Amino acid sequence: MLLKSLFVSFFLCFSISYQNSEIKKIEPEKLYKNNCRLCHGSKGKLGIGGASDLSKSKLNISQTFNIISKGQGTMTGFENILTPKEIKALAKYIQQFKK
Ligand code: HEC
Repeated sequence: MLLKSLFVSFFLCFSISYQNSEIKKIEPEKLYKNNCRLCHGSKGKLGIGGASDLSKSKLNISQTFNIISKGQGTMTGFENILTPKEIKALAKYIQQFKK
């Protein structure tokens, strides 16, 4: 009986820590720094190589999502680099530049 509950609690601990390592926390600020700041700048206004001023963007979230995924002009798409969840988080993140 004791052995059995020990085994069960061990198994529970193991499966919980396994799950935790599976869930990757999305940090849009970091993603932006690593993938976007180079051209768009930390406030979205840098405009390297004709990059759009993100603070003046009139696109909604889903249009923004599409541009980040597929790219546009000289901006490469990120659909092979980032997951859809990460792209969505970024699309939301850059909305703050408009304020
Ligand atoms: C290599 C430089 C470069 C990088 C890196 C880059 N962009 Fe861009 N981005 C551009 C350029 C250039 C445009 C303008 C494209 C055009 O319309 O010709 C643009 C346009 C955009 C637009 C459209 C804005 C509008 O209103 O038309 C969004 C949104 C955007 N970028 C977001 C991002 C995000 C988010 C990232 C990071 C995941 C990123 N960009 C990385 C160069 C870049």
